[in-house]
Amino acid sequence: MASKSSSGPSSGSVSFDRAAGFYDSSRTLSPEGEAWVTELLGAELAGRGRCLEIGVGTGRVALPLHRSGLPMAGVDISPKMVDRLVEKAGGRPPFPLALADATALPFGGGTFGAALAAHVFHLIPPWRQGVAELARVVRPGGVVLVDLTGGGGQLFLDVRERFAAAAGLERVHVGVADPGELQDCFASLGATSRDLPRFEEPGQVSLDGLIARFERADFSYTWRMDDETRHRAAGEVRAWAKATYGSLEKVRATSSTIGWRAYDLPGGDPGAKGA
Ligand SMILES: C[S@@+](CC[C@H](N)C(=O)[O-])C[C@H]1O[C@@H](n2cnc3c(N)ncnc32)[C@H](O)[C@@H]1O
Repeated sequence: MASKSSSGPSSGSVSFDRAAGFYDSSRTLSPEGEAWVTELLGAELAGRGRCLEIGVGTGRVALPLHRSGLPMAGVDISPKMVDRLVEKAGGRPPFPLALADATALPFGGGTFGAALAAHVFHLIPPWRQGVAELARVVRPGGVVLVDLTGGGGQLFLDVRERFAAAAGLERVHVGVADPGELQDCFASLGATSRDLPRFEEPGQVSLDGLIARFERADFSYTWRMDDETRHRAAGEVRAWAKATYGSLEKVRATSSTIGWRAYDLPGGDPGAKGA
């Protein structure tokens, strides 16, 4: 098991304990995609010192970076996700890990040279506190790399919106909903931002298969619904999808975008990397 620190004050964030068993199979990235992302992030992180990933989960992003030789560290509020990471690494923590909340990091100021946040800010209601914590624990002149793209492509997004509306949910995400808000928050701390090159991951999906994933609560925002609401919403979405797209069984091509944004923190040595 990972080294345990305090799990921090309750921030109302969404723990992924219930997803630990299926999370990796729900976020499949081709070997080419994984290699591309690891190289992209590796080029940004190399030479900066240790990099902290908040919401490190099962290590989907951090483990390949660690294997490529980068010094990593991770925190998560879900013991089961972190257990899975350790299991994937052969039974021992591959790098320092702590059970801790991104809104109250158990590290001193300037501990890290860089940080990562992949698919996590939308799960944290007080996400601005998480941004402030990253700006505190990453050294001046360091970089914070954020991936807010969820994957899945336009068909996924259309079904997701429809499902949320059918279930009577006002907001899909409890945390950041608009990437512009995140950018404004980093800017208010003096950070400048850059879009990193994007990767398009082709995939295939049937509407039947996709709607079934919402119905069986594969996605965290559906965990706020009871079983009856999910089944009812799935029925409504099936009827809408059939009327809108035709066959639910037909396998359709999709394309998901993986898009990272770099936030360069102010200060530090002007000659240093990222300054
Ligand atoms: C969608 S998963 C992403 C995991 C990993 N970053 C990836 O991209 O595969 C989100 C992770 O963030 C964790 N999480 C949610 N809120 C958090 C918080 N406030 N502090 C730390 N971890 C958090 C969840 O438990 C979950 O493991």
